[in-house]
Amino acid sequence: MSAPSDAAADPLAFDPYDYGFHEDPYPLYRRLREEAPVFHAGRDDLWVVSRHADVFDVLRDDATFSNRMGVSLDASAWTPHAHRVMSFLALDGREQTRLRRLVSAAFTPRRVKELQPQIQRLTERYLEETLAANDEHGEADWIADFAGKLPMDVISEMMGVPVADRDEVRRLADLVVHREDGVRDVPQAGMEASMELVAYYSAMVRERRTAAEPPGDLTAALTAAEVDGDRLTDGEIIAFLFLMVVAGNETTTKLLGNALFHLSAHPVQKAEVLAAPDDPEPLVTQWIEETLRHDTSSQMIARYVVEDVELHGRTIPAGAKALVLLGSANRDERIFTDPTVYDIHRPKSELGQILSFGSGKHFCLGANLARLEARVVLNELVRQVEDFRVHADRATRVHSTSVRGFAGLRPRSRGGRADGGEEVRAPRTPARGDHRRVVGDRRRDGEGPRRGRTPGRARRPPGRRRRGDRRGDPCRGRRGGRAPARRRRRRVGRRLRRQGDRRPR
Ligand code: HEM
Repeated sequence: MSAPSDAAADPLAFDPYDYGFHEDPYPLYRRLREEAPVFHAGRDDLWVVSRHADVFDVLRDDATFSNRMGVSLDASAWTPHAHRVMSFLALDGREQTRLRRLVSAAFTPRRVKELQPQIQRLTERYLEETLAANDEHGEADWIADFAGKLPMDVISEMMGVPVADRDEVRRLADLVVHREDGVRDVPQAGMEASMELVAYYSAMVRERRTAAEPPGDLTAALTAAEVDGDRLTDGEIIAFLFLMVVAGNETTTKLLGNALFHLSAHPVQKAEVLAAPDDPEPLVTQWIEETLRHDTSSQMIARYVVEDVELHGRTIPAGAKALVLLGSANRDERIFTDPTVYDIHRPKSELGQILSFGSGKHFCLGANLARLEARVVLNELVRQVEDFRVHADRATRVHSTSVRGFAGLRPRSRGGRADGGEEVRAPRTPARGDHRRVVGDRRRDGEGPRRGRTPGRARRPPGRRRRGDRRGDPCRGRRGGRAPARRRRRRVGRRLRRQGDRRPR
């Protein structure tokens, strides 16, 4: 398959399993949007939809574009029984609404919000270990040491998995989502891990049902959830617990990896973010949203086509498998100004239109949690670390159709201003005008050419809600609850500086 940008004359081809495509899918996405917004990929018999407006419409029309066969490209997961492990993600209409309402009675915004102290504790623990590894080896693996651990532990914490079992549960969960390079389906080890995990969760649900005093965790809350006299069966609870592992684990890991990777590649923006350890949240929030737009971890999802659909002069036949490219929609030049440019100062009116968490009835139930995790983690990173650099040349990419991101990412942190007892002083956060100057300076910093932003150039398709599905997100716009960690940052900075001095940069 070919996706290079300089191959505009090549015939279009789309192979979601191709390694070259995984390296950089964006030039191909651009060609698809331009030349064939509805493209039939013959080899896998997929109908590929790439423009923002079309992706949005498909996601919101679940009568025509059904989730009933699941949303995965894996052949063995494309089945009318997908809901047995994918819960309401693999259901439509009333069935989906019923289950989602019941689950939402337990998986509440309040429960997510209350997780913040635990997420903070896990973050501090794994960050300490990551920085210790950095001290010892001059670098750490952000994925193996940190980002690959935290999201699954947060899910386990929420479900009430005992601490002693969490490493094993994480190992199984990793196997469930792991895809062998070159293998176009779920590997045997993944199937076996799925069965073990389902058995483990079944036992957990049984325990909650029979406990004299059930604990206050999500699993117990699911057994008690009731809407108009309706309740969840054991099978429905287990399927939802399993869905959380598949939907909320690797996606969040990859978001944390992609955030470090892209900010590291943009030194001016990185310096700006790291310059505000006393109040990191405003820029960290923008950093997260722009990462979700620029390089989202969930790039594509499938739909079963219920009846013939005419779109851009093509007929997508009933029974076909449509593939919507969220990653392409987020780069659509009809919506986003200079979509290839990574810009943490992108206006909120544009960021409000990202489709990284989907849209419509299946909008990601865990979007608040994913954002909360990212915010806690990256706030803490800014508080503790004066600088970091990702070895882009040594980053190893995951070759997967369901997630985009890294299997290994080696940032090397270093102390900047901390030196011999001198106080670390966080420079003031640049004012609004400074931001513009920084953006304009980026060419000098090797961040690539940039056309001037034209106010109002980005268009919202008619009839779209301005802030999409993110209304009422309790996680947006709040400040982190912790005091500035200036003292700790100085200590870490000094420690890292010593390390940095020993190693060539
Ligand atoms: C960066 C992290 C994440 C990304 C990019 C992401 C992305 C998505 C997307 C695109 C969908 C829509 C699928 C569709 O329309 O077919 C979705 C659904 C879902 N996500 Fe997430 N997700 C993330 C994190 C999480 C987390 C942390 C959880 C929970 C622990 C979670 C739970 C769910 C659930 C339960 C659904 C199904 C919703 C439904 O079908 O009604 N996700 N996610």
